[in-house]
Amino acid sequence: NKANAWSALFAEPVSELVQRYTASVGFDQRLWAADIQGSLAHAEMLHAQGLISAQDWADIQRGMAQIREEIASGQFEWKLALEDVHLNLEARLTELVGQAGKRLHTGRSRNDQVATDVRLWLRGEIDGLLTLLTQLQAVLVERAEANAEVVMPGFTHLQVAQPVTLGHHLLAYVEMFARDHERLSDVRRRVNRLPLGAAALAGTPYPLDRERVARTLGMDGVCQNSLDAVSDRDFAIEFTAAASLAMVHISRLSEELVLWMSQNFGFVTLPDRFCTGSSIMPQKKNPDVPELARGKTGRVVGHLMGLITLMKGQPLAYNKDNQEDKEPLFDTVDTLRDTLRIFVDMMAGLQARPENLRAAAQRGHATATDLADYLVREKGIPFRDAHETVAHAVRLASERGLELAALSLEDLQAIEPRIGADVFGPLSLEGSLAARKVLGGTAPEQVRAQVARHKARLAG
Ligand code: ARG
Repeated sequence: NKANAWSALFAEPVSELVQRYTASVGFDQRLWAADIQGSLAHAEMLHAQGLISAQDWADIQRGMAQIREEIASGQFEWKLALEDVHLNLEARLTELVGQAGKRLHTGRSRNDQVATDVRLWLRGEIDGLLTLLTQLQAVLVERAEANAEVVMPGFTHLQVAQPVTLGHHLLAYVEMFARDHERLSDVRRRVNRLPLGAAALAGTPYPLDRERVARTLGMDGVCQNSLDAVSDRDFAIEFTAAASLAMVHISRLSEELVLWMSQNFGFVTLPDRFCTGSSIMPQKKNPDVPELARGKTGRVVGHLMGLITLMKGQPLAYNKDNQEDKEPLFDTVDTLRDTLRIFVDMMAGLQARPENLRAAAQRGHATATDLADYLVREKGIPFRDAHETVAHAVRLASERGLELAALSLEDLQAIEPRIGADVFGPLSLEGSLAARKVLGGTAPEQVRAQVARHKARLAG
């Protein structure tokens, strides 16, 4: 009889606190399905290589099937004394099928096992996130199309800069989420490689067929160096970096939604089910969901910092430090997944308030650049001089308490005699928009072209 769950080597049991401190089963049990999948692929290969009998392989399959049912139905008894998901499942397997359960760990270590489990689990989660990112893009493209002609002020420094369309503005986010999708797909290729066969750190003397296991698990290849296979978590770090960027994009969108829903902007509304009220101020309808998404971005970026710091001082190969990779990684996935799901639903309900958007674009001399461009294009005036001329016109308008576009032709001609009556086209919001038909510009025809391109891309 052993004084310690590990082996006869240990003279005394660990204290209750140490047990709790070192155990991960409280959180890593969510890897159970990946752990079973990895174990079955390993056992199938052990059998194919003649390392375990057909009977053992059959017993392992039977035992794992039962464990799967026990966990799925909430019957499985997780034991803290068994430290982590791996030892819990292996112990139960042995309880159920005896000898075969004890043979499963042949040529394997928890070090290559856990690295495999995390990769398998993350691969599945990435696939779900990719789908959500595609859905979010599709929703934004649809909203952009509906608002392809809705004029609003474009900002720099949050000061009115030039007119844009709401459709164009929304499509900027589509570009961002398309790159997030690209980044996650790229990370997936490096996540989807097999550590199993590296064993504890040095490889194993058993003639394992690693390529076979990789094929069974649908992986793109095997990790080529056993020390690296069990010890690096760069795949988790780069996933979290990609997730952080996606959250940062959502956070920027959230910040805009919060501003846009403020009474001082009044640009858009969101369905009530994404807002909450106040317990004291009866009139309030707060954009809680975008605010929380903005806040949760800090949490995900924090996980990125946590994971990258976790790695930096570790000598090769495996160190228990790596057990700390799970909670930040899990929480990153949960946070990004829930946020994307909510945004897919919420953005579909985004409604513009076109009159307010237009009114805001009419303040701040938004077409001043168009006047300068008019002087350059129609009158051959050098741009720098045109810029100066328009500054005088803006100043005059401000002194009169008017918008630039509201100055009379006489006023404008007093500043620059070459200005003609044809200036009011360029000075109008629609004129300004229509002129910006360069590829990627805000002209409604360009916005529609972008919409068409995205639709084709997202369908393909
Ligand atoms: N629970 C451990 C982890 O999450 C599994 C690997 C443990 N290996 C070890 N040699 N203690 O990393």
